[in-house]
Amino acid sequence: MRSRQVDTASDGAVIEARDLHVGFGATTRSGQPPIRAVDGVELAIGRGEIVALAGESGCGKTTLARALLGLERPWRGQVLQHGQPLRYGTRALRGYRRQVQLVLQDPSGALNPRRTVYEAVAEGLRIHRLPGDERDQVARALSLAGLRPAERFFSRYPHELSGGQRQRVVIAGALVLDPAVIVADEPVSALDASVRGEILALLLSLREQLGLSVLVVTHDLGLAWNIADRLAVMYLGRIIESGPTEQVLGAPRHPYTGALLSVLPESTHRAPVVLRGEAPDPSRVPSGCRFHPRCPALGDGSAGRAGIADRCRSEPLRMLPAAAGHTAACLLARSSEPDGSVDPADAGPAADRAVPA
Ligand SMILES: Nc1ncnc2c1ncn2[C@@H]1O[C@H](COP(=O)(O)OP(=O)(O)OP(=O)(O)O)[C@@H](O)[C@H]1O
Ligand code: SF4
Ligand SMILES: [Mg+2]
Repeated sequence: MRSRQVDTASDGAVIEARDLHVGFGATTRSGQPPIRAVDGVELAIGRGEIVALAGESGCGKTTLARALLGLERPWRGQVLQHGQPLRYGTRALRGYRRQVQLVLQDPSGALNPRRTVYEAVAEGLRIHRLPGDERDQVARALSLAGLRPAERFFSRYPHELSGGQRQRVVIAGALVLDPAVIVADEPVSALDASVRGEILALLLSLREQLGLSVLVVTHDLGLAWNIADRLAVMYLGRIIESGPTEQVLGAPRHPYTGALLSVLPESTHRAPVVLRGEAPDPSRVPSGCRFHPRCPALGDGSAGRAGIADRCRSEPLRMLPAAAGHTAACLLARSSEPDGSVDPADAGPAADRAVPA
């Protein structure tokens, strides 16, 4: 379980996205509007902090993760490391990528079937030409990843390992470079339920042992609950709610988070909220609150909700400041209840704190 809260404002973020915009298709002549996959994201990850990034398929999680890794260049905004803007020259990027390592969903795809565990883990050391005894470094990384005694795994091939062991080899390949941050994109979704918990426990123990910062990209709010200090919920290219995990999941302030929670199998106290309308299209971002076409808090738009719906459709907004770092981009956030029901009378003061997009 989570064991700490990191105040990124006072401790300083290890990596940070500031007003980050990343898209595709801006330069094509196809006549298609560009895809605004990441559309003004603010996200900071502190030292030793585990942050989960959740949201439905296509909301921009992987694109944001890739931008934080320096693999996608932003259209606008910045990625910062310890407050310094990321530079995109080849040398600067190589140094950065050593410190910010990626762990992908599918360990089988990440490992070359013809290379031994030793070669797979040593590869990063060779690419980055790191000094030191290679054998010792590989052994240490495998041990840290829970493959012990490490030497027993040196000559094994991926097909001789279980799925969980393969994912540990991938993690060892990241650890061998002594990174400050691991970005894990759906790190357990390809694994059996029985080994998921082991890999999550490993990430938690690495944070404790090494002070690693971790960004975990996931569809799974249950996973976020088990591992993350902080949870950021993304919708259509933007973080729409973020805060300490137990606060976001225990008392969501954005109707989208409430809807995601309501359909979890573990959810016993909420009626499932079915989101209306089509899945959102990042090349056609709605005006005003980008969630308004599907927002369950607006009901059918009749009676008392009509005035608010007008504002939702037209008022651009970003995160509303809130106590204890729990923020939400919703005009009604202040009075949102966990099931997404709202008191329209409270809309005014909360709306006054909205920051224009
Ligand atoms: N290289 C690309 N070229 C064009 N469009 C892209 C590219 N990569 C992503 N997209 C689009 O950007 C949007 C966000 O995609 P992204 O992969 O970041 O979503 P995601 O939240 O990671 O989804 P999932 O949960 O399914 O992995 C999608 O509409 C996707 O089709
Ligand atoms: S601002 Fe309006 S449309 Fe957007 S989430 Fe809040 S209530 Fe729903
Ligand atoms: Mg993805």
